[in-house]
Amino acid sequence: MLQGKSRWKTVAVGAAVAVVAVLGWLVYRHGRDAAMLRLAPDSLPENASLYAFAVSGGKGVFARNCAGCHGADMKGDRKTGVPDLTDVDWQFGEGRVAEIEQIALYGIRAADHRTKNQADMPAFGREQPYARYSIPTLTPQEMDDIATYIGVTQGREAEPEALKRGIALFDTKGQCFDCHGNDMGGDTFIGAPNLADKVWVNGDGSKKAIIDIIAQGRVGVSPMFKNTLSPAQIRAVAAYIHSKAIPPPPAA
Ligand code: HEC
Ligand code: HEC
Repeated sequence: MLQGKSRWKTVAVGAAVAVVAVLGWLVYRHGRDAAMLRLAPDSLPENASLYAFAVSGGKGVFARNCAGCHGADMKGDRKTGVPDLTDVDWQFGEGRVAEIEQIALYGIRAADHRTKNQADMPAFGREQPYARYSIPTLTPQEMDDIATYIGVTQGREAEPEALKRGIALFDTKGQCFDCHGNDMGGDTFIGAPNLADKVWVNGDGSKKAIIDIIAQGRVGVSPMFKNTLSPAQIRAVAAYIHSKAIPPPPAA
């Protein structure tokens, strides 16, 4: 049993050791954060130890800031139009750390001039489908025909006349080709999804869901975090998402 002075001595030594340990840990973490930030974001995955440090730090950042929309499993939600971050099918970019970091920093359609905001999905059922420039409204029959055309890529049968009309509308009046490409392959610069694969950001790919998107449009928002997360937290969360996703092709 420790008594009096010697007991206080033990407590004081214990407290001093704890303070030194905490300070040491903070200095260590600060050094690792700085080293992680000195690297170009896309070379982080090549540095195994710093990458592992970033990924482990990013897990909590993701849970607290991103999982609410993207899901704890990162699989997103097609009902609310939140993309799966684990697949190879990126709406924006190719899933590189630098690209994910830019989105974490400035968001998508967020209030910053560096945000991703080149295009929206127009609402073709409205009188003025698009706020950015003039695009004609489509009739319900026209939207049905275009959905028939997209349905073919999903393996659905199409009535030949409707299909012919759908193809023509996609390539002319609907201006779908302009953002989604003539081959429906999408455009990862402006975030226009591939319409010919079976991966859907919004809805389940049924004819009804496709018509609904064409008629109502879509303007998905991912918030910006440049004011609420530190540069190290942003890099860490980008590394964490990168670590969970199917790897992108090697950088050019
Ligand atoms: C309020 C909901 C919400 C929160 C919170 C949120 N996101 Fe998003 N995120 C979205 C939506 C919606 C999209 C799709 C935007 C679109 O449709 O153009 C998206 C898209 C993305 C994409 C692009 C995916 C792709 O396939 O190209 C990345 C990367 C991303 N978010 C990262 C993050 C990170 C990192 C966080 C947390 C720091 C975060 N998001 C928090 C809603 C959210
Ligand atoms: C000005 C550019 C633009 C034009 C024109 C355009 N789209 Fe889009 N479209 C987008 C963008 C951007 C998105 C993603 C919106 C989001 O998720 O927030 C999108 C999303 C979609 C989706 C949902 C895909 C998914 O995986 O969730 C469908 C379906 C679609 N567009 C069909 C069409 C059709 C059909 C036309 C022509 C009638 C068309 N789009 C014209 C930009 C465009």
